Amino acid sequence: MSNRRPSSARWLEEHRNDPYVAAARRDGYRSRAAYKLLEIDSALAARSGGRGLFRPGDVVLELGAAPGGWTQVAARRVGDAGRVVAMDLLPMDPVPGVLILQGDFLDEAILEPLRLGLGPTGRADVVLSDMAPNMTGVKIADQGRGSLLVEAALGFASEVLRPGGRIVLKMFQGPDFHDLVRAARIHFTQVKVEKPPASRDRSAELYLIGSGFRAAPMAFQEETLQDRGIPCAS
Ligand SMILES: C[S@@+](CC[C@H](N)C(=O)[O-])C[C@H]1O[C@@H](n2cnc3c(N)ncnc32)[C@H](O)[C@@H]1O
Repeated sequence: MSNRRPSSARWLEEHRNDPYVAAARRDGYRSRAAYKLLEIDSALAARSGGRGLFRPGDVVLELGAAPGGWTQVAARRVGDAGRVVAMDLLPMDPVPGVLILQGDFLDEAILEPLRLGLGPTGRADVVLSDMAPNMTGVKIADQGRGSLLVEAALGFASEVLRPGGRIVLKMFQGPDFHDLVRAARIHFTQVKVEKPPASRDRSAELYLIGSGFRAAPMAFQEETLQDRGIPCAS
């Protein structure tokens, strides 16, 4: 008699029949997740006159990068003139030309190495976050940890992005979802939330795609001032 749990047997079966797993093997990607980023990129290009997420020579910061499917996509797209800084809690095999840092994004000690990794300007054209907390099964705790990662990624992106920059941010449906999308709308001229076809139906993940980063947006400052009851005008 097999002692494999039904959920892991189901996962194995799903994995075996998954066209994205087969495609990743064929195309040399480390994870099927690479196709989520490729699909997000194509959808953005389709609605922006051919301009996707990346330009040759871009500086890309990637949070929650292991095992590295998105990293491979980003490194290919920005080319030799570009720079990719990828970080994760877990160790990750090297990707040619990519700076890989290991650490916890919620630990402030990692932020300075990340800034330094971006190069002399400390700025990025694109921030990617596919970070997902380890799920405990306790819904409210998992949602809280997911929101914390999204909020932290959005906060750091708003410090390092160049004006006009782009973001792709994994989010989870939950009580904070709409507030986080609203916060992103303050920073980016265009915000869209998508579930790319490669994202499994049973996964609660969604991706926020922001473009046209506004540096130090007036609206944000005003909202903050108004929230605190301080009179202000544009
Ligand atoms: C879905 S995987 C990323 C897959 C990746 N995009 C790819 O294409 O291979 C999510 C990653 O987020 C990382 N992660 C979760 N919490 C993190 C944190 N606090 N700091 C850094 N990485 C974190 C996990 O270790 C995991 O490797």
